[in-house]
Amino acid sequence: MLFSALSKAFTAALALAAPISAASLQPVTNFGSNPNNVLMYIYVPDKVAANPSLIVALHYCTGSAQAYFSGTTYKTLADQLGFIVLYPESPRSGKCWDVNSPETLTHNAGGDSLGIVSAVRWAISKYAVPTNKVFATGASSGAMMTNVLVGAYPDVFAAGSAFSGVAYGCFAGASEWNSQCAEGQLIKTAQAWGDQVRSGYPGYTGARPKMQNWHGTVDTTLYYQNLVEENKQWSNVFGISFAQNVTNTPLNGYTKMVYGDGSQYVAYSAQGVGHTVPEQEAVVLDWFGITGGQGGSTTSKAGVTSTATPKATSVPAPTTSAPAAGGGTVAKWGQCGGQGWTGATACGNGSTCQVVNAYYPQCL
Ligand SMILES: *[C@@H]1O[C@H](CO)[C@@H](O)[C@H](O)[C@H]1NC(C)=O
Ligand SMILES: *[C@@H]1O[C@H](CO)[C@@H](O)[C@H](O)[C@H]1NC(C)=O
Repeated sequence: MLFSALSKAFTAALALAAPISAASLQPVTNFGSNPNNVLMYIYVPDKVAANPSLIVALHYCTGSAQAYFSGTTYKTLADQLGFIVLYPESPRSGKCWDVNSPETLTHNAGGDSLGIVSAVRWAISKYAVPTNKVFATGASSGAMMTNVLVGAYPDVFAAGSAFSGVAYGCFAGASEWNSQCAEGQLIKTAQAWGDQVRSGYPGYTGARPKMQNWHGTVDTTLYYQNLVEENKQWSNVFGISFAQNVTNTPLNGYTKMVYGDGSQYVAYSAQGVGHTVPEQEAVVLDWFGITGGQGGSTTSKAGVTSTATPKATSVPAPTTSAPAAGGGTVAKWGQCGGQGWTGATACGNGSTCQVVNAYYPQCL
């Protein structure tokens, strides 16, 4: 009797001590055509949902799959919601993405984008992912790649969400970094930007992935003008116009710029925020239709709508939110220097400022 009770208690203690999640970030190899040898990792939660969604999560320059895995909350959300996340990693020393080569900008032509899409195709097949539940998101260079993937592979992706990137094709050219574009001096007409996207997959007439872009108004790495150019580009691709601003959404000081009915393209302008626009995973998952409700539209590429009504524009004037840096200490993964940087350079939480790239040193 006593033994039995003790045994039960022991068993219960063991159960409590068991890890909540056994899943971890795993490398993937041999996933198909990968001309640039993009590195690939995947997170498959212990409980994968039936007909799971697949998110490609793309790191910034100097980043890595592990850094983006640790620095965003998609792992926890995948544990809760059962979606799968691919974390590609740049094969170059500066850890920026190839968003400039003609191959990467063209459907099935090569470059980093083809390596990433090959892993997507592999994962779709292995995990029975419905083809209308494939998404891309990323920050900085990863945001540029999100624009590239959505532009060159409109048949593969259902939606994209990009934090602090540039328009598809803005970095086009021989060099990995394009200062003219970065500094917001590559200005084109909406038609020219739209034509550039259409040239990424000539002859494609299917539906286009819905897209959202986020940008800080005081970004000194990729200037705010890049959001203006992205807005021209994607509104032209969809053939829609600016409709209205929704202020203080999803955060105080952020303005959601709605194009058309808001189901195909929206932009978020973050007042007073620099290059590091903190990722809003909940809004991103809403946009992808993985969750419903709060702030995002859940309209899918296929046109099925169910959404929250945006707040009216008559909200009190925004209080400028504090820039990610300024004085004081930069959080781990934050920007701590680079050309034109005027924010803080001291790193917190045991991280140090590492200059791997002249434009985006980070607390690592
Ligand atoms: C909408 O908001 C953006 C970002 O704050 C601003 O630049 C633009 O002028 C606003 N447009 C209108 C019509 O209010
Ligand atoms: C350090 O980490 C703690 C806990 O994660 C966080 O609350 C705090 O904001 C961080 N501080 C800096 C300067 O990064």
